[in-house]
Amino acid sequence: MTAILSVSELTVAYGRVTALHGVSLSAEEGEIVTVLGANGAGKTTLLLAIMGAISAARGAISFRGADISGSRTHQRVAQGLVLVPEGRQVLVSLTVEENLLLGAHLRRDRQAVSDEIAAIYERFPNLAQRRHTAAASLSGGEQQMVAIGRAMLARPRVLMLDEPSLGLSPLFVSKVFDLIEEMNRRGLTIVLVEQNTGKALSVAHSATVLELGKVAVSGNSEALRNDRRLLEAYLGGTAETSDEHLPMRASSQ
Ligand SMILES: Nc1ncnc2c1ncn2[C@@H]1O[C@H](COP(=O)(O)OP(=O)(O)O)[C@@H](O)[C@H]1O
Ligand SMILES: [Mg+2]
Repeated sequence: MTAILSVSELTVAYGRVTALHGVSLSAEEGEIVTVLGANGAGKTTLLLAIMGAISAARGAISFRGADISGSRTHQRVAQGLVLVPEGRQVLVSLTVEENLLLGAHLRRDRQAVSDEIAAIYERFPNLAQRRHTAAASLSGGEQQMVAIGRAMLARPRVLMLDEPSLGLSPLFVSKVFDLIEEMNRRGLTIVLVEQNTGKALSVAHSATVLELGKVAVSGNSEALRNDRRLLEAYLGGTAETSDEHLPMRASSQ
C-alpha cells in the first residue's frame, strides 16, 4: 500500500495554545480516512496545517511521495491537495457558476471545465436552475454541494472535507455522504472530518480519533465501529452509534 498523504508527528500551536501535539495520519491511495473527535480536539487545525494555511512548529507532511512541508498553499492545491473548509465558505455575493469557476482558476482546459460543470448541474438540477443566481439564495445543503463542486473542479488527488454534513437537513446529509462514496468509488482519496460519527465510520476505511490535540485511537473503521465504548469515551457520548446510523458499507471495493 502506498500512502498518498502522510503526516508525521505534527505539532501546531496558536501562540501559547498547542492545538496539535505530534499527530500522525496517513491516507492510502483510494481510501476514505475519517478524522473524528469532540469540538476543539484539533481536527480543523490538522486540515489547515496539511493545506499549509497555518504553519507547523514540528513535523512533516508528504504528498504523492514528496515532502511538501515547505510549500505554499496554492502549490499544494495545484498538486491536487484540496480542502472544502468548515462552514463551506461559498462566496454568497457571487453566482453559483462563479463559485464553481473559482475552483477551476488554475486550469487552462476550458472545454473540460465546462463539461465538468455541466456534469455537476446534471447531478444537482437545483444548482442548474440557479446557476446565474447569487449563492446567498441557496440552502445550506445546496451551498455545500457548490463548495464540493468547486473543490472537485480543482481536480483533487486528495479531497479533504471539514464537517461537510454540519447543520444540513437529513436529506442533504444523505446527499453529502452519497457524493463522498461516489467520488471515492471513482478513485478519489478522501480525508473526512465529521461529527456524524456513525455515518463517517460507515463510509470510511480507516479512522483516527483526536482528543485534545493527540491521536487517541486509530485503525480500521470497522473495528472502531464495533467498539462503541471506546468511541463514546473519546467523543463524549455524542457518537451517533445506534444501528440505524450504521448501514453496512456497500461491498463495492
Ligand atoms: N485561531 C485560533 N487561535 C487560537 N486558538 C485556536 C484557534 N483556532 C483553534 N484554536 C484552538 O485550537 C484547538 C483546536 O481547535 P480546532 O482545530 O478548531 O478543533 P476542532 O476542529 O476539532 O473543533 C482548540 O482548543 C481551539 O480553541
Ligand atoms: Mg473544526
